Amino acid sequence: MGRKYENILETIGNTPIVRIGKLAPAGINLFVKIEAFNPMGSVKDRLALGVIEEAEKSGALKPGQTVIEATSGNTGIGLAMVCAQKGYPLVVTMAASFSVERRKLMRFLGAQVVLTPATAKGTGMVAKAQELAEKNGWFLTRQFENEANPDMHSRTTAKEIVDDFEGENLDYWVTGFGTGGTLKGVARVLAKEKPETKIVVCEPEDAPMLTSGTAQERNADDTPAASHPAFKPHPMQGWTPDFIPKLTGDAVDTGVIDRILTIKGADAIHWSQQLAQKEGIFVGISAGGTFAGALKVCEDAPEGSTVLCMLPDTGERYLSTPLFADVPAEMTDEEIKISESTPGFHMEPAA
Ligand SMILES: Cc1ncc(COP(=O)(O)O)c(C=O)c1O
Repeated sequence: MGRKYENILETIGNTPIVRIGKLAPAGINLFVKIEAFNPMGSVKDRLALGVIEEAEKSGALKPGQTVIEATSGNTGIGLAMVCAQKGYPLVVTMAASFSVERRKLMRFLGAQVVLTPATAKGTGMVAKAQELAEKNGWFLTRQFENEANPDMHSRTTAKEIVDDFEGENLDYWVTGFGTGGTLKGVARVLAKEKPETKIVVCEPEDAPMLTSGTAQERNADDTPAASHPAFKPHPMQGWTPDFIPKLTGDAVDTGVIDRILTIKGADAIHWSQQLAQKEGIFVGISAGGTFAGALKVCEDAPEGSTVLCMLPDTGERYLSTPLFADVPAEMTDEEIKISESTPGFHMEPAA
């Protein structure tokens, strides 16, 4: 593929796979697939394009029709880009607990953002989107159950991985899940094309819903009836809503998952910082969580193994979150000392 494109949507996907140098244990080939290279900085750009193009093809989405989705942010940001380029109005429902910069980004791209109470969690924003879609005749993209989501990952993410490891062993592929679109779409292709690859799924220690093995109470239309009993709030935005999405459940049911790991929020933040400071790879909290899982895999992997870890989004989406809580805005004592070591311009100390 060349470097000249007809529109921004053609730049979605084809993200780089990069070897980890300093943070990889000796004797293991550890790679990351950096989804922050997508135009709006996350893996969800793929889903956004996949569901809209599929709906255009099937006729479910009419020219100029309003699109609506429930999203913790990245899907809304991806959809806002796709809808802006293609000329569809977009309404997003989002729980008020997600970071402020996400709302602003969507509005900047021309979308409208309807907030739902933080206490109603993911199930609340999904229910609100359904109500609004029915009342107004809007097109609901249904990211948590729409087959166009995993289909896009099978066609793009999985194909890229298979191509990039052609003729080489890939022993482990490590991911988290939001909808489960990445998981379902990639795992089924790897199972066929690279059957040696073990599929490893990470989830928050505070929301170990897959690990718990507990199924979830569902309404007649297969939407969750209430929060999963094993769910507690966690800092990995974009990972693991308070219900087991249909697409994730499908991947579990097909038996493609070899191992499920639980990750502490503090470890996710730590490894996101380490990726930035030791490897120059700037990614979000859930990426740090997936990387923490990949390091656990490395501990048990035989020497010479190759591990690939998904990094779903950019760190820039987390400026107002715990990821940046310890990063000061004012000069530190050390920085003041550096400044005062020459007689030139000095800042007055902060009041
Ligand atoms: C921030 C973020 N976006 C997206 C994803 C993947 O989402 P999905 O399961 O919907 O493909 C994850 C999960 O790893 C994530 O953490």
